[in-house]
Amino acid sequence: MQKWKQKAIVQKAISYLPFGHKVNYLFQKYVTKGVYLTDTYFYDRLEHAKVHLDGYRKFSGNLVPASTLEIGTGWYPTVPICFFLSGADKIYSVDISFLTSKERIQSTLLKFEESKQAGQLEKYIPVIPERFAVINLLLKNYTNLTLDEILQQLHITYLIEDARNLTLPDNSIDLVHSNNTFEHIYPEILAPILKEFKRVVKKDGGVLSHAIDMSDHFAHFDTSINIYHFLRFTDNEWKWIDNSIQPQSRLRFYDYKKMYAELGIPISEETCRAGNITALQNVPLAAKYATYPLQETAVSHCHFISNMRSATNS
Ligand SMILES: C[S@@+](CC[C@H](N)C(=O)[O-])C[C@H]1O[C@@H](n2cnc3c(N)ncnc32)[C@H](O)[C@@H]1O
Repeated sequence: MQKWKQKAIVQKAISYLPFGHKVNYLFQKYVTKGVYLTDTYFYDRLEHAKVHLDGYRKFSGNLVPASTLEIGTGWYPTVPICFFLSGADKIYSVDISFLTSKERIQSTLLKFEESKQAGQLEKYIPVIPERFAVINLLLKNYTNLTLDEILQQLHITYLIEDARNLTLPDNSIDLVHSNNTFEHIYPEILAPILKEFKRVVKKDGGVLSHAIDMSDHFAHFDTSINIYHFLRFTDNEWKWIDNSIQPQSRLRFYDYKKMYAELGIPISEETCRAGNITALQNVPLAAKYATYPLQETAVSHCHFISNMRSATNS
């Protein structure tokens, strides 16, 4: 049986268990080996942080956001720590489940130290020396500190709640961002989340910045399929394959653009990876994906930046 099918079956089974996310972490750690904080992952997220900060600077006119909100905390809070190093004061990350841990934050901080020593870090983000000194100190005293103390020193607050109903006040956040998260949220949930972002982001100078990976995530693990493989299935078939541990909405570039337009959220800048038309042509597409030009369906990654001064009422 192909590896992606085995993974789909195991994740489907895990999704019915209590503490499914914890069991999935162990499954990924010991079986698929997909949870380690690799250099590829770390530098990919530094690149996201760079694009978020460049977009913020360009559209707000300010150097660094004072307050940030991330959706989809994940295992390693790389981007929130970037914002801490660059000078943000209130850094929020919201997730329905708490996926990180004291140990995983320690591995992330160690990667930052390594990257600084290798002269790489400042190629991505501005680093305030006093803020970096906090990281050095945290690592020295790590075992004596509680998770809450560590987060407090990093100015990070985790909100364990549904992003459709944030506890943050209106007009309070400079930069709302996400990293490889939207593709895991189905449109009927994502639309109300974007509405919430519109409510909490500052109307004068606030920015939304979202990086979306639209490739079939099973292909990251199984090279016998390509990144468009999942587009062969109808919605009904996909319901049987997809799981709540790592759902994939399969929304395409044009679906996101339509959703933004319907919600009155401008796309002030978009950066897309064109994808690979030949690989897409090798997949017999389900009818709903075949109605758009291949070039549009092929887009595999995109980053949307929204200058919320141009938002409209919807
Ligand atoms: C793939 S993970 C995030 C990956 C992470 N950003 C990274 O860079 O590795 C997507 C996350 O979105 C969270 N999520 C999904 N729906 C949500 C919602 N309605 N509110 C808050 N978080 C949600 C999930 O719990 C999951 O942890």
